[in-house]
Order: sequence, then structure tokens, then C-alpha cells
Amino acid sequence: MHSLSEIETLAMKAVAEIRATQLKAPQKIIFGAGAFAQLAGLVRARAGGKPVFIVADRTVLARAEMLAHENAGLIFSEVDHEPTVAMVDVAVAQARKLQPGLIVSLGGGSVMDSAKAVAALTTNPGSVADYLEGVGNRTTLENPPRPHIAVPTTAGTGAEATRNAVVAVPEKGVKRSMRFDDMLPVVALLDPELTLTVPRGATAAGGLDTLTQLLESSISSKRKPATTALALLGLPLVREALPICCDEPTNREARAAMMLASFLSGVCLANAGLAMAHGIAAALGALHGVAHGLACGILLPAMLRYNRTACALELATALAAFLNQEKNSGWAGAPLPRAGLETPPTKPMPIAVDAIIETGIVEIEKLQRQLGLPADLRHLRLDAAALQKIAAGAMGRSMSGNPIPMDPEKTLVFLKGIA
Ligand SMILES: [Fe+2]
Repeated sequence: MHSLSEIETLAMKAVAEIRATQLKAPQKIIFGAGAFAQLAGLVRARAGGKPVFIVADRTVLARAEMLAHENAGLIFSEVDHEPTVAMVDVAVAQARKLQPGLIVSLGGGSVMDSAKAVAALTTNPGSVADYLEGVGNRTTLENPPRPHIAVPTTAGTGAEATRNAVVAVPEKGVKRSMRFDDMLPVVALLDPELTLTVPRGATAAGGLDTLTQLLESSISSKRKPATTALALLGLPLVREALPICCDEPTNREARAAMMLASFLSGVCLANAGLAMAHGIAAALGALHGVAHGLACGILLPAMLRYNRTACALELATALAAFLNQEKNSGWAGAPLPRAGLETPPTKPMPIAVDAIIETGIVEIEKLQRQLGLPADLRHLRLDAAALQKIAAGAMGRSMSGNPIPMDPEKTLVFLKGIA
């Protein structure tokens, strides 16, 4: 296991690469055990003397109350599930009344996504539904959002590094994104100490979301050399640290490694898109309430098998990093590739590509079992009509990055194989 200082050095290296390659990411990225202590000063500097609107998970209410007390703040703590249109609109109504100078999110992906939408809609008219891709008609933000400081308290979605808020529209049975460049949080404050109390189930689901995001962004049709380089940095961390986080929740090194991997996966997805597992996970969540990380973790191996011939080199490279086999594949220790330069996928690999892919997928299936996840969707007992609805609902933006171009018919065939 890497030491804390090694992980902090890796984080600095990753941030330097993000800046050098001009990937979209928060203006300020702070990573380190104990970094939460910097929040009060950051809030004072960014709020412009105005009140602060805090979106907080109930598990960190004491911290949120302290912050609210110091900054004439208001707390919204009703994010008890993945955000819906109704829930976000309630939070927005409260924020519009307060007219805050700054939004702070303290929580997991649902909390951070809700806060991104609140930051944008505090200064813009309408309901969040009006801005959702494929649902609403508004395609621009008239006014810049309020600045938003994101403080994740779980490792998983990397939502602190993304410019979209995923929101469910229950009556339509879909989850869609509100997405604008300005919705990126201005500051991502990453303190792995905040994740030490996350329960095993949420740790496992979050970690599998991270793993899925790192792998999908590496094979997405929208991938970039710079994002692949970050994914290759994150993948070995997941393999090393995720089982430890589940078995020894207070292991500080493992929690730090997963928090870094989660952040990197967010940068990757914001800049390179995702693929089919995320497309279907969105529909499973909206139609059947399957938690996002869990859905991703179940779908991941089957999605990789389905796509393996369409992205063999990219997938083998990513899985070699996951397996920590860089040493065998000839590019260990090489500097991170820069955009426009030759990337690892184009270098010859002495180990057969197919063998790496097979070994990698089998290892992910083992991890799935070790973390107690089902291997397929059969436990949901989905009938033909339900599968058809899922296939239709899966055609969001993530699906458009799948290496094999998908439509509802092909997605239905894939689903029938695992349901
Ligand atoms: Fe995800």
C-alpha cells in the first residue's frame, strides 16, 4: 500500500498534469489528510460577505452547522436519495430566498450534484427540469452560477470534478444531466479523513463507480490521451485500496488512495465521457431504484466483455494498469503522456492483449464477489416490458461514448443476456 505522503505526491503530479493538459477541472484542488481545516478560510474568501447556502449530508450536520453559524448560512439536508427534480427545486427555492454569495456542498455525489444545480439556478430562472438534457428546452445559462466549494465525504462519483448534475425525472423514468461548463465547482477540497466512517456498502458501491468511470473513460469513443493518463494513475489505486477500505474502514492510506482515484475518475468522465454501464445504470436507477454505484458494479464485467473487440488495446492498457502489470507491459515508470503525444495504448505490449483483458475482467468479477455484489440483474426479476423500458431509457449521453455504437435494440439484446 502506498504511504500517505506517496499518495499526496501522486495527487500533486495529477493536478500538475491536469493543468498542463488544460483539462476541465475545478480552479483550485486541495488534497490531503486534514485539509478540511482550510474550509472556513476558503469560505470567508469566496463568499464576498454574503450568506452561504450549504447542501449537506445528514452524517456531517455538525460540521455544516458550525459553518452555517460562522457565515449566516442556511443548511439544506434533505438529500436522502439521488436527486429528483422535485427535491432540487425545493432546495433552489430556499437558495433564491437567501441570495447566497457562495454554495458549499458537504456530502457524497447526490449532495454535490444537488449543490451544482442549486448554484446554477440561484442566479437563473426556471426549474431544473427545464435544463435537463433531452427533457427541457433551456440550453444556456443566462447568468453565471454562484461559486461552489465541493467537499466530498465519500469516495466514488468524483462529482467534485464534474460540470453536471444528474437528476431523476421519476414520471418519465429517466435520469438526465443538467450540464454546463460553469457548473464546475470552483474549489474541490479533498480530505480523506472525512471518509473514515463511510459504511462498507456505500464504500463498495462508491469504489465500483470509480472503477467503472476510470475504465469507461479509457475506452470511451471520446477518450483523450490526457484523460487516459489520469485513469492509468487511478486504476492501480482502486485495486490496491478498495478491498482494504471495505475491510479496514479506518485505514487512512487506503481511504486516501480511493479519494484520489475517485477525483481522477471525475476529471476523466468530465473530459472524456463514459460508456454503456453508465447509460444502463441511469435507467436502472430511474426505473427500479437501483443505487448508482451498485448498478455500475454489476454491469461492469458484462459491459467490458461486450465491448472488448472494439477497443482491445485501450482496454488491455487500462486493465494492465488495474492489475498493476505496467512492469510487464513495458511502460512502467514512463512519464504521464501529454495530449497530442504518443500514448500507452499505441505501444506494443509483450503480454497478449486478449490474455490481459481476460485476466482483468476475471479479477473484476472476483472483486464483485468479494464485495458481495450480484453478478447479473436476475435478482431484479425484470420482464420483457421492463427490459424494453430500460433499453430505451439508457440512451443518454453516457451511452453515446460506448465503443460499439448502441441503439435500444442492441441494448435490449445485451440486457437479455444478463437479466
Ligand atoms: Fe458514476
